[in-house]
Amino acid sequence: MKIAVLPGDGIGTEIVAEAIKVLGALDLPFEMETALVGGVAYAAHGHPLPESTLKLAQDADAILFGAVGDWQYDKLERSLRPEQAILGLRKHLGLFANFRPAICYKELVDASSLKPEIIAGLDILIIRELTGDIYFGQPRGRRIATDGHFPGAEEAFDTMRYSRPEIERIAHVAFQAAQKRSKRVTSVDKANVLETFQFWQDVMIDVGKQYPDVALDHMYIDNAAMQLVKAPKKFDVIVTGNMFGDILSDEASMLTGSIGMLPSASLNSKNQGLYEPSHGSAPDIAGQNIANPLATILSAAMMLRFSLNQETAAQRIETAVQAVLAQGLRTPDIYSTGTTKVSTVEMGDAVVKALG
Ligand code: IPM
Ligand code: MG
Repeated sequence: MKIAVLPGDGIGTEIVAEAIKVLGALDLPFEMETALVGGVAYAAHGHPLPESTLKLAQDADAILFGAVGDWQYDKLERSLRPEQAILGLRKHLGLFANFRPAICYKELVDASSLKPEIIAGLDILIIRELTGDIYFGQPRGRRIATDGHFPGAEEAFDTMRYSRPEIERIAHVAFQAAQKRSKRVTSVDKANVLETFQFWQDVMIDVGKQYPDVALDHMYIDNAAMQLVKAPKKFDVIVTGNMFGDILSDEASMLTGSIGMLPSASLNSKNQGLYEPSHGSAPDIAGQNIANPLATILSAAMMLRFSLNQETAAQRIETAVQAVLAQGLRTPDIYSTGTTKVSTVEMGDAVVKALG
């Protein structure tokens, strides 16, 4: 079981260290190797995704990823910014299927800004297509003014596109996931305005015919964004494109109390996967030992389940996370009166202890 460990920027190092600690306590034969990615890789090697890091990731069974991004790199040309590292890994490894579950643990119903009755018992799964759409459309660029007086751009553009095979494969992932859950899929699109998403809807319907046991419905992205805060429990599996999935998954994170709780898995057709928290690098709180490591620890559990075939170990971690929440331990992002505030490291230690 070869794991490439890519902590990245900001809080990445701190939260990944806690996940490694938890994995280490399982007593399984992991081979772990760490490499630089994101801004720290740019600083050391002049590129956010150095060749050696990419090679390590490609040769591994799974990648445990922290987060990338830091304001100090915002002025770099786009191809050298930290975010390109994660986009490059997704593209190079073909990690097209992104699973972002949103589960509201009963202990955290009060940590959300939404009313407890709206979110108590929530358990939904957002499946985001991750290697197509406007994120990777061609052509893209800026048109430069030609009159010589304005060196700046006159307009900029990105193109939205999806091919039939790209939609088909994510559709199969969604329908198969739904077969193991409540057998309902909501496909989120913008077919009322965009050709790309009319096509998306048509292909979803086509693939859906192969899964007569799964009910498929369609919702426009704007309505879905609204329904997600109005009545989130009406959803079960949501499948959508790269851009809409990016936005909806951040929105869904708030249904769980904190974005610090949301794990994610990005898989390719060989079940090789990249596992990362859904949140970012949070440079504003980096180095303070206050970040919530649970999303990363839960991502490690997903890694055990999806890429390393260790279901029992995955469940041990998930049960331990529930146990520490039940003990009332909270990092500042999920803290509320009556609970015990703990640091990043203390939270990791508590999960290790709760593994039993
Ligand atoms: C995410 C992030 C990334 C994305 C960024 C960091 C490129 O927001 O994983 O959701 O937009 O996909
Ligand atoms: Mg995002």
